[in-house]
Amino acid sequence: MSEQLKNQLVDRFGRSISYLRLSVTDRCDFRCIYCMDEEMTFVPRSEVLSFEEMQCVAKAFVGLGVKKIRLTGGEPLVRANVVALSRTIANLEGLDELVMTTNGSQLPKLAVDLRNAGVKRLNISLDTLRAGRFKALTRTGSLARVLAGINAACEQGFEAIKLNCVILKGRNDDEILDLVEFALAKQIDISFIEEMPLGQVSSHNRAEAFMASADIRDVISKRYFLTRLRKDSFIEGPSKYFSINGFKSRIGFISPHSENFCADCNRVRVTAEGRLLLCLGNEDALDLKTILRSTNNSNEALQTAIIKAMNLKPERHYFDDASAPQIVRFMNATGG
Ligand code: GTP
Ligand code: 5AD
Ligand code: SF4
Repeated sequence: MSEQLKNQLVDRFGRSISYLRLSVTDRCDFRCIYCMDEEMTFVPRSEVLSFEEMQCVAKAFVGLGVKKIRLTGGEPLVRANVVALSRTIANLEGLDELVMTTNGSQLPKLAVDLRNAGVKRLNISLDTLRAGRFKALTRTGSLARVLAGINAACEQGFEAIKLNCVILKGRNDDEILDLVEFALAKQIDISFIEEMPLGQVSSHNRAEAFMASADIRDVISKRYFLTRLRKDSFIEGPSKYFSINGFKSRIGFISPHSENFCADCNRVRVTAEGRLLLCLGNEDALDLKTILRSTNNSNEALQTAIIKAMNLKPERHYFDDASAPQIVRFMNATGG
């Protein structure tokens, strides 16, 4: 069955899906102002997929031709035993790479185990290098701990480490060059992400704080000459990458507002409660948990439903269209 089903994940617009972003929890030890509101309600534990169920989901997707899985959250590392889940998924036959997006707070203790479990690359969120500001942006986080986590990860020989920065005007736009130089010094990559309107936040006005990638690039270009990198196996997602002569780091820009990249989309998401989301910017979804729980985790039932769900994948997101339905899901409920 699985051989026949390979590469069947093609949507109505001819896009092949080879990449699954699997959220292991919607919980997080931080409350970043662009991601969550101060007071959040999380999914009850009974509604969150068990690790066995997540393994079944991962296996079903790999059987259908998915080559890359990214574990996300919330914060994936706050879920107990996530290292064991990582090991099982990393060993799935047919998967090229298991990677993870994390806020870094648990890396001082878990970086070694994650690397040994087979996680190949890490993306770590870092929006500021100033401790007071870090506390203000994450509401609960400690910069020192995240920096220790980044250092711990750098010692483990991951194939790549990338920092993710969301720049907000008036909050951290004066640190763009500092963040770039931090990445250059550590010989790791860095991506700047335009803030997306996922969930209603009360901490700031998203429109006023918005900073376009082109403006961030201009700030960097005043000090460094940026050379556009060609697409290769590393660069197949929404990020546009550049290099700086004499440095190893890649500088990326993820621009959902200013440069729509949906035509090249190769990914789907599964939330911690088992909703298959076909697009970050739409509510179209399929409830995999009901299928898992009503069929005793049948691989065949999952795969059949997943193939059918490809028809639900929308052509693109409409973040900037005021008449489009607003996305009420916060990023932590979406899975990054
Ligand atoms: P790769 O897996 O190497 O492509 O890394 P990535 O940068 O996509 O992964 P990461 O988890 O670090 O994602 C960073 C952010 O990019 C996400 O949290 C989103 O904000 C944005 N992003 C990633 N994929 C998509 C997408 O399909 N659509 C939109 N609109 N944004 C995305
Ligand atoms: N817009 C853009 N990026 C966001 N992230 C979280 N919420 C948002 C948002 N509303 C980013 C975090 C993290 C990644 C998983 O998603 O900075 O790096
Ligand atoms: Fe947690 Fe990441 Fe959301 Fe920050 S952006 S609150 S670290 S899930």
